[in-house]
Order: sequence, then C-alpha cells, then structure tokens
Amino acid sequence: MNDSVQQLPLLTAEQFEYFRKRIFDLAGISLSTAKFDLLQARLRTRVIKLGFSDYQEYRHYLESQPNNSNEWEIFVNLLTTNKTDWFREPKHFDFIRNTFLPQWMKEKKDHLNVWCAASSTGEEPYTLSLVLKQSLKDTDISYSIDATDIDSKVLKIAQNGVYPKSRLEQVPSQFHAAGFCLGTKEISDWMKVRKEIKAPVSFHRLNLIEFPYPLKKTYDLILCRNVLIYFNSETITKVAEGLFNQASNNSILITSHSESLQNVKTSWRYLYPSIYAKGNLF
Ligand SMILES: C[S@@+](CC[C@H](N)C(=O)[O-])C[C@H]1O[C@@H](n2cnc3c(N)ncnc32)[C@H](O)[C@@H]1O
Repeated sequence: MNDSVQQLPLLTAEQFEYFRKRIFDLAGISLSTAKFDLLQARLRTRVIKLGFSDYQEYRHYLESQPNNSNEWEIFVNLLTTNKTDWFREPKHFDFIRNTFLPQWMKEKKDHLNVWCAASSTGEEPYTLSLVLKQSLKDTDISYSIDATDIDSKVLKIAQNGVYPKSRLEQVPSQFHAAGFCLGTKEISDWMKVRKEIKAPVSFHRLNLIEFPYPLKKTYDLILCRNVLIYFNSETITKVAEGLFNQASNNSILITSHSESLQNVKTSWRYLYPSIYAKGNLF
C-alpha cells in the first residue's frame, strides 16, 4: 500500500515522550511538545516501511536492537534537521576572508586546520573550501577541513559532492568556474564539486555530545552553526567546552547568528555577534 494512504494509529503522548527522550539521550536534540507532529511525521514512513502496524511495535523493535545498531542510526537520521545552503550567512565568509585570515597569517603557520562541526550535506565545508582556495592562492599556505555530522545519510550526500544545478544561484558567480563541473545531457540538472575543492575536505561521523571528541588535531577555525539551536543550555555549555578543548591556542569559533553563548558559562571570549575567540591573537 502507498505510504501516503496507509493509516497508522496516531502517536500517543506516552510514545512521544519515549522517542523524545531517546533522541535527547542519543544526540542531545531537545524536542518541545510543539514538535509532536514533526516527530510523528518523521517516524511514520519508517514504521510503515518496516511493516509495523503502530509506533509501539516500532518502539519494541528499536529496544530489541543494540545501541550501535543500524536501526538506531536510522532513527537518529530521521530526527535530525539538515537544512543548509551554499554561502549561508555570507557575512561569516567575509569575516573569514577579511578579518580572520589576515590576522591568523601573523602566526606564520603554513597549514590552516578547519573543523566544520555539523556539516550536513556538505554545502558549508565546500563553501569554506571555495573561499579558502581563492583567498590563499598566492600564498604557500595549505588548508584542510574536517567536516563532521551525526547523520550518516547526509554525510554520504556530502561525500558524493553532487548537487542540483539550480543551487548555483546561491553561489557568487566568481566561484562558479573554479568550484563546479556542470552536468550535460542526461545529467544536465546536476553539478559536481571540482576535485581541487573537494580534496581538502574529509567527512566523518561525529556526535557532538560524546566527549572527548575522537579528533587528533586542534583547529584554527571552527564552524558550529545552526546546530546549537537544537540543544538545551546545559548541552550547549558542554559542547562549547568540547569545541574549546579541540581549538588551537589562537583560534576562532563561529556559531550562527541565531545562536549565542551569551547565556552559558564558557571559556570562549566574545568577539562579535556569533564569533568567539580563544587566545589573544584575535
Ligand atoms: C540545520 S543543520 C546545519 C548545517 C550547517 N552547519 C549550516 O549551518 O548550514 C544541523 C546539523 O546538525 C547535525 N546534528 C544534530 N545533532 C548533532 C550532534 N549531536 N552531533 C553532530 N551533529 C549533529 C544534524 O544532523 C544536521 O545535519
């Protein structure tokens, strides 16, 4: 039967509480009761696909699975929100070009380590790569970007690096030729990130609420944008400290304009709205 017509009994308040607690424990995502319909809609297709007749059967099935099982991974993937764009919040990329890089270069390092800590389908780390490639082209400085997310499904899309061509309108025209191979004929609706832009970016699954982070480097620049909004203030405090511990001595953290560390206790020093510093270089 077609998913859109198959009837399922409605999610009960008790079941909602169960799933809400599980996604909080697993990913730190806090869903208010206003998200009841959203949670129900996100899980519905999976419940039907697995052939269960209600959410309770799905719950029992999940509970029978070990914590590291594929089904729990799918559950987390279903409840993350992955909205992202090319050059999202463009002022941050102006800041990186015009303020961060000139100041960071005073340290005379030859490699820039960047971490994009909730990279979703890849637009954000590839935007960074476009900007850094262009800004550093007349220097001997190389860069690498570690892009991480909890959602294994978006990481596959990101690794693939193929996007609808219509999204090119989000990218300033100066980056079109350097950034993308445009599909023709039967793949004319698609564009592919060029290998020069892709090569410095590597993608890994990482849960921001599992400490310490399994990363071997420290980072000069960390972007953690549009993910703290899903966390409560206790989780934000812990994640901000996790990021601080993973940051180089003189480094910058960028959150989104709708996120703030103002109301949490943090080691980061406020620099500008949504921009924080570690050390005294900035
Ligand atoms: C709304 S997207 C933001 C993407 C990108 N940073 C941007 O600003 O466009 C939020 C991302 O955070 C990820 N996320 C949610 N909880 C997470 C966690 N505990 N650890 C790592 N990533 C998480 C989601 O999977 C999703 O891809």
